[in-house]
Amino acid sequence: MKSLAVFASGEGTNFEAIADACAGGVLDARVVLMVCDKPGAPVVAKARLRGIESFVFNPRDYASKSEYEAEAVRRMKALGVDLVCLAGYMRIVSKTLMDAYPDRIINIHPSLLPSFRGLHAVEQAVSYGVKVYGITIHYVNEELDGGKIIAQKAFEYDGSDPAEVHRIGQKIEHRLYVDTIAKLLNNIDDEKKSTGQR
Ligand code: GAR
Repeated sequence: MKSLAVFASGEGTNFEAIADACAGGVLDARVVLMVCDKPGAPVVAKARLRGIESFVFNPRDYASKSEYEAEAVRRMKALGVDLVCLAGYMRIVSKTLMDAYPDRIINIHPSLLPSFRGLHAVEQAVSYGVKVYGITIHYVNEELDGGKIIAQKAFEYDGSDPAEVHRIGQKIEHRLYVDTIAKLLNNIDDEKKSTGQR
C-alpha cells in the first residue's frame, strides 16, 4: 500500500475525494499527511474528522518558504510518503520540496493548461469568453502551472457564471484526481519492481 501526502489551503473537497477513495479501497493507498498553510481552512477540520495527521502552519511563523517546506519534507520522509498531491494548495513550491520528491509532486489546476495559469483560472477563462473549459493534472516544476501534463478533461459551458463553472469542474476534478493517482501509483509499483526496491 502506498502513502500519500495531500497539500491544501481551502475547502479540501479534492482532499476529501482522495481520502475517501483511500478509505473505501478505491485507491490502494493511505493519506498519511495533510499539509495546510491556512490554520482556519475547512480542510483542517476535514482531516481531523478522518483522523489523518496534519501539518498546519502559518508561513509567517517561519523565516522562509524553505524552512516550512523542510519541515513538511521531514514529516513526509518519516511517514514514507510515495506521492505528493497538491490539491488547492495556493503557494508556489520551492526547490526544497521539489528536490526532495523529484517527479513525485503533482497538482490539479482548474483550466486546460497552458491556458489560464495562476490564480483565478476559472474567472480568467470566463472573462475571456471560452466555450470549452477543463481540468489539468500536471507534474510540478519550477514554472507556475508549467510542468508536464499528466491528464486533462474538458467540458463545454456556454454561459458567464464562474460559480457554475466551478461546480461543474469540481465534480470532474474529484474523479480525475483519483483516477490519475491510481495510474501513477501503478507506475511507481512497476518502477520499484524494475529497480528491485520495496
Ligand atoms: C480546486 O478547484 C483546484 O483545481 C484549485 O483550487 C481548488 C481547490 O478546491 N487549484 C488551483 O487553482 C491551483 N492553481 P478544494 O480545496 O475544494 O479541493
